Order: sequence, then structure tokens, then C-alpha cells
Amino acid sequence: MTAYADVQDGSERLSGDELAALQLKRLRATLLRAYERVPFYRQAFDKAGVHPDDCHSLADLSLFPFTTKGDLRDQYPFGMFAVPRSEVRRIHASSGTTGRPTVVGYTDGDLSAWADVVARSIRAAGGRAGQIVHIAYGYGLFTGGLGAHYGAERLGCTVVPASGGMTDRQVRLIQDFRPEVIMVTPSYMLTLLDEMERQGIDPRATSLRTGIFGAEPWTEEMRREIEERLDIDAVDIYGLSEVMGPGVAQECVETKDGLHIWEDHFYPEVVDPFTGAVVPEGEPGELVFTSLTKEAMPVIRYRTRDLTRLLPGTARPAFRRMEKITGRSDDMIILRGVNLYPTQIEEVLLRTPGLAPHFQLRLTREGRMDALTVRVEARREADAGQREAAAAAVVRAVKEGIGVSVAVEVVPPETLERSVGKIKRLVDLRETPRVG
Ligand code: DLL
Repeated sequence: MTAYADVQDGSERLSGDELAALQLKRLRATLLRAYERVPFYRQAFDKAGVHPDDCHSLADLSLFPFTTKGDLRDQYPFGMFAVPRSEVRRIHASSGTTGRPTVVGYTDGDLSAWADVVARSIRAAGGRAGQIVHIAYGYGLFTGGLGAHYGAERLGCTVVPASGGMTDRQVRLIQDFRPEVIMVTPSYMLTLLDEMERQGIDPRATSLRTGIFGAEPWTEEMRREIEERLDIDAVDIYGLSEVMGPGVAQECVETKDGLHIWEDHFYPEVVDPFTGAVVPEGEPGELVFTSLTKEAMPVIRYRTRDLTRLLPGTARPAFRRMEKITGRSDDMIILRGVNLYPTQIEEVLLRTPGLAPHFQLRLTREGRMDALTVRVEARREADAGQREAAAAAVVRAVKEGIGVSVAVEVVPPETLERSVGKIKRLVDLRETPRVG
């Protein structure tokens, strides 16, 4: 028994068999609900020649067709809803950099289940009822702010709904209200840290003890940087609006070994991104989710495009873990035949003395060849000689570790744009390739 067992809810203490039985019951009900109430699913199941009655075991889920972001977009705005619109209590939408956003809806029951899983996540991160939680995820159509908000209230915390932006004010609120917990993207945490230092505040001396960071990929090296500079426990929270929002999976503070998926609500599979075949546990691939309790918008085999592996549970033995997300298939850069993710560059940069954790990747085309330039800020204390040595060290480490040549520009401190939410690492400056 861990020291945290006393604060787990009933579902967190289920045995593996109990959980599997609950999942199968909920899965069958969800498949039926989708089939009966959402024309999109009825057509997709009929086309694939499957019926909800064909699901006799959890493994039978693989008989059912996938759902993609494109499918959700095609049903814009409310075509995926399985309840009358009047029963939809809230709408969120993903930003959608191109074209239509994807719209998601929640019933009262969905909002309550969501608050429960976020409350559970905050507890697993080390947060407790009675503490103050500063929420700097954006409020609005993005699920980060409101998702975290109702979860923290459900747990019994005092919530400071700061949202994103107005960084100097955020720092003042942290100084004055003395929160123990902060929920924010890791990149915006770095912006807050810089602002604390600018105001002459020692970040290690703040009241913060727990940071719950997610909504974008971040590395073990970034965890070390943030934990060290703030003197807190930094843990990972994962989620996506199509499946619910934050709180689909959470890293436990006692192990910090990847994220436990709250499998009583969200059933995970990992598939080969090219063939769609389910891969064995432990093998890498694309994460796919089926909701087990959602009423307004059940999702069946939703392709997240996030890449990870499933691992057995540790701190919560019944729930499987997912490894920290290394990247999305959409973020993959193919540079002269070599696949590479921004997180691989982050690892190298944060291991290199003299470099700050602020960087941007610029993709250009020189003749027929793509070229990648890593722009990274120097730490304040690094002199010209150290900056030059750092640049050379990164070129070498990327060549040796990833197998590709990149250019590295070490720029002065505070020259790159700062994040106020999800950071965009890659700037693609290539011309649109000509067709024909
Ligand atoms: O980002 C929900 C969220 C808010 C999660 C706050 C955690 C904290 P979307 O805007 O729909 O929802 O974006 C979902 O963000 O498919 C991943 O690619 C990425 N993502 C989310 N959490 C993590 C994480 C929210 N912990 C997309 N690590 C997902 C890596 C993450 N990537």
C-alpha cells in the first residue's frame, strides 16, 4: 500500500478483473448508444458490417471502425451528438488551425464525470482538498481552463481562475494568494518563471508545491528544469477535447513514471498508425480512445494521432499507463529522410550547459533540400565562448543521436517569443511545394 492509498476513490481500487467487467458493460452500452442515436456511427458500423451485439469481449472492439478528426469536422457543428441539443449543457471546441473547428458537447452527467476525473487527477498529482489551485490554462472554448476549474472545485480546493496571459499579474496573484498547486502548460510555466525572476522573486521560495502540466509535449529534461527552478513536484496531465478534455490520464506523484489512464471512463488502444492493427502492450504506436461513460458525444475508436506505448499500472495497479507523449504524428518533421520530433531537440538542448529552455525550430528549403535551424536562447550567465561551444555541442549531439545535420543559432536571452498557452515549436518557412 502506498502512502496515497487512503485518498483514492472506489474505482481506483478496483481489481483488474473488476475493472475489465465494468469496462465491457460500459463499452457495450456506449456502442449501442452511438449506433442508435448518431447516424454517423450507424452508417460507419453498417458499412463495416458490425453491430454493437458483436462486442462480446474488450478485444472485439477492434472489429469496429475508427473515428477521425476529419469525421468530427464533417459533422460540424452538432452532428455527433447523441442527445437532443437541449440536454447539452456545455460546448467546447478545438482551435482548428485550418478549416472548421471540432465541436464537442457535454450533458450534466458528462460535466460531473469530467469533474470527477480531474479531481482524481489533481489528487494523484499530490493536491489535496483545502489547498489553493492557481489555474493558468486558458478559459474559453479550450477545455484546459474550465476542465481544470471544475475538477479542482470538485476536489474541494479554492480555485483561482487566472486563465492565460497578463503574466505580471499572475506572478502577483501567486505571491499574494499563496497557492500550493498550479495548473498550466509547461511552456507558460517557463514564461511565469522568467517573470518571477524579472520581478526579483525567488521562484523556489513561492508557496507552490505541485505543478500539473499538460496540453503539449514536454520532456523529462523539462521536468528537471521546472522542478529544480521552482522546488516543486512537476507531473504530467493528458487529455483531448474530443475525448473529454484534461484528465483522461494523469501521472502519479509517488512514481512519476508515465500517466495512468482513467480506464473506467476512457478505453485505450495503441494501433499501428499505417495499418490500423492493434499492437501488443508495450509496443509504440498511435493512441486510440473509446469513451465508456460519455452521454452527449460518445467517441468510438478515436484516432488521437498522439504517439505512445501502453504499460502496466504501478501506483494505480488496475489502470494501465501511457508513456509520456513524445510527439504527434502531425508534429513529425521529415528531414532528408530522417524522422524527428521537437521533443528530441528539447532533450538535447536542456542537457547542454549554457542553453535556456526557450527554442524554436525553423524549417526552410535550400534548393531541393529541406534544412532545419534550431534557434535557442542562451542562459543569462553564458558568455560568448560558452554560447559558441553550446551551439557546436548541439550540432554534434543531434547528428550523433538523431542522425541528421541541423544548424544551431544561439540567440541572446529574452529574444524568442514567449508562450501564453500551447507553444508552437515549428515554424515552416518552406514555400508551398508546386504541384505538377
Ligand atoms: O489540450 C486538453 C488538456 C488541457 C490537456 C490541459 C491537459 C491539460 P486539446 O486542445 O484538444 O485538449 O489538445 C489535445 O494536446 O491530442 C495532444 O497532442 C496534446 N496534449 C495534451 N496533453 C498532453 C500531454 C487539451 N500531457 C492534444 N503531453 C492531444 C503531450 C499533450 N501532449
